[in-house]
Amino acid sequence: MKISRDLALLKLSEHVKNEKTIVHCLASEAVMRALARRLGEDEERWGLTGLLHDIDVEVTNADPKVHALKAEELLSEFDLDEEILDAIRMHNDEATGIPRSTKFHHALAAGETITGFIYATTLVYPDKKIESIKYKSVRKRMKEKAFAAGVNRDHIMECEKIGIQLDEFIQLSVDAMREVSDEIGL
Ligand SMILES: [Fe+2]
Repeated sequence: MKISRDLALLKLSEHVKNEKTIVHCLASEAVMRALARRLGEDEERWGLTGLLHDIDVEVTNADPKVHALKAEELLSEFDLDEEILDAIRMHNDEATGIPRSTKFHHALAAGETITGFIYATTLVYPDKKIESIKYKSVRKRMKEKAFAAGVNRDHIMECEKIGIQLDEFIQLSVDAMREVSDEIGL
């Protein structure tokens, strides 16, 4: 069966009950779509991959040793191509034990990671609105180790591996999340 965006979201909410994770997946979808547009890749496929990348996070209890390896099983009824499943698996290189190597791998790892960082930056603002944040302050906070300490800066920096420098990557990601600000509650 081919998976539509609606069906993908339905399937995601079947396996992910935490609202914050759903929001993270929606933000990742938006960033992946924007990256695909920027790089001349297939927007639907990249968006779908962003949306589904954490589908097994609750099934695996977010265990870094297995998270992302179970996604294929949960999505087995759909005709997802191997590249999509591979990118999903490879976003957690701790589980695969293999370094990321393709544009698609790096885009997902960098894209899904920056969403958390932007989210954290937005929450510092008095109105907690993504509309209010400045690109520069995201950049500045990246250097503060204690800020959003759980967000892996190295993963964000993988944007350079897809030919996008950090400043542009921040701008593109903030803009993409702004487009879906209602859905992601920012
Ligand atoms: Fe994620």
